[in-house]
Amino acid sequence: MIAKINGLNFAYTDQGQGMPVVLLHAFPQNRTMWEPQVRALSKTHRIIAPDFRGFGESDAPLWRYTLDQFADDVAGLLDHLAIKQAVLVGLSMGGYTLFAFYRKHAGRVKGLVLADTRAQADTEEGRAGRFAMAQTAYTKGAGAIAEIMVPKLLSPVALQSKSKLVGQVRAAIEQTQISGIAGALMAMAERPDSVPLLSRIACPTLVITGELDGPTPPADGQLMAERISGACLEIIPQAGHLSNLEQPEAFTGAVESFLNSLA
Ligand code: MLT
Repeated sequence: MIAKINGLNFAYTDQGQGMPVVLLHAFPQNRTMWEPQVRALSKTHRIIAPDFRGFGESDAPLWRYTLDQFADDVAGLLDHLAIKQAVLVGLSMGGYTLFAFYRKHAGRVKGLVLADTRAQADTEEGRAGRFAMAQTAYTKGAGAIAEIMVPKLLSPVALQSKSKLVGQVRAAIEQTQISGIAGALMAMAERPDSVPLLSRIACPTLVITGELDGPTPPADGQLMAERISGACLEIIPQAGHLSNLEQPEAFTGAVESFLNSLA
């Protein structure tokens, strides 16, 4: 489906009926990464999965991208669908967006799932790495970004034994427009530290981390779970950064139990 949101064509999946659940994808992926969760959870819930601006089938303007804008696009989509409140699930960059969303639209959040993400801002070194990666995207194309990112997104075991999954993750990156890749890198580089926000999060929260997640290791998940009042932590065994794809049943099961606890 395509909606005009904040002046852009914004692509999204809207499947199932019941309590609305919004799934926000990682960088540099798109909404297809949620396919196992959409299939399973839409049996009992209304699942909405957008492509962020710059990704998938959404428009990819040349300039300029911020996580606040990503959050406003999600709020705009909820307005478009006449949904007042939803459970929001964000993985990695999707999680960074949830912090921006919570700052701006806390009243619309029924519950949060922060998956394979972190509250801390980038270090100076991390920021420099993002600028270098944006340069690589412009000079060498999305294929070069896939070379860098695939080994970060998947665990060594998955890289060796799950060739179909590796191909799927790689293809999603290769299909991403350069303006989206570079724009999101800049948006993530300038995101604020969300650690002070954690103690102000007042909605039910589930934190999920893949046991083998390299970019946002379990310690990052533990920090969020410790500081968000009442939050639960689920570590998914034998899963890397894209834990929802490496261990879809365990990931979906954890989200399902959380949704049932809210019903
Ligand atoms: C992601 O999966 O969204 C990225 O790894 C996030 C990041 O680069 O910090």
